[in-house]
Amino acid sequence: MNLGSALGNMMAQAANTASWWKPMQASSHAVAVDTLFNFIMYLCFFFFVLIVGAMVYFIVKYRRKGSGPERTSPIKGNHTLEIVWSVIPGILLVLIFAWGFKDWLAIAVVPANAMEVRVSGQKWNWTFTYPKDGIVSPDLVVPAGQTVKLVMTSTDVLHSFYIPDYRIKRDVIPGKYTVLWFKPEEEATHQIFCTEYCGAEHSNMLSKVKVMSSAKYEEWIANGGEEAGGAGVPLAEKGKKLWEQRGCVACHSIDGSKKVGPTWKGAFGTARQFADGSSLPAADENYMRESILVPNAKVVAGYPGVMPSYQGQLNDKQIEALIEFMKSLK
Ligand code: CUA
Repeated sequence: MNLGSALGNMMAQAANTASWWKPMQASSHAVAVDTLFNFIMYLCFFFFVLIVGAMVYFIVKYRRKGSGPERTSPIKGNHTLEIVWSVIPGILLVLIFAWGFKDWLAIAVVPANAMEVRVSGQKWNWTFTYPKDGIVSPDLVVPAGQTVKLVMTSTDVLHSFYIPDYRIKRDVIPGKYTVLWFKPEEEATHQIFCTEYCGAEHSNMLSKVKVMSSAKYEEWIANGGEEAGGAGVPLAEKGKKLWEQRGCVACHSIDGSKKVGPTWKGAFGTARQFADGSSLPAADENYMRESILVPNAKVVAGYPGVMPSYQGQLNDKQIEALIEFMKSLK
């Protein structure tokens, strides 16, 4: 084995896991992005050493020595030198641009056979909708080896969709669609971040990509977006998971403490006083459902009516699970 292939093997191995330096490389984009990144970085190292080295050398060489003449002879300029230091960086700049443009095109142009998933960003969670199967999911579930196209938009402010392991990132903009694609190679789970500051809970705007085998993915679709074994899980437990995953946690505590919105502890079945002066003797299923889908219909007194609607973002089963969870918080 020669040194080149040994190095190649080492790099390939390192790429499958995250290091202190970079996240793992889990898509074809990742290799292309890292290669160009490394090229630019080493180029910068090279010129940094060259320029700082020359500077230090000149400082030492031309320091004032003893009692000789105080000034150096005047310098008139040097055409050869000026052309060399303009043309070489010029060529490197064009090379970096052409290389970057080629890689960018590969990321920007979606292959024709891609499976489409809709992504919706909302303060402060992500929703993934599978248009063909009518599934709404808090995680991006995809089969391994399948090219996936994400059509993304926001229901409120600017967000940015970022999967470090795939080296893909794009702004998610209200009133407009942006597109990303990737091809997951192996079954794994990867972190999704929002990488555009979008408000108080921006750092909690998290989600996961779950890459499954095709068989498991088919099962997930057939189960309406529930992982195998989901059948035996109590509804309230599913509701708790949704409370965490769908961002309810950002504004609604379950321990009685006051956050942006009212706590869920003891909310179900107790009296509600609204900002418009009306009231409800006991919060029931219909009230809770309405509060999720049309939050501003009845705003609890003393709270700002800032909750976004979850219309189209939660299906009936998920709403029921959330209400069951509220009921369990006595
Ligand atoms: Cu959404 Cu930051």
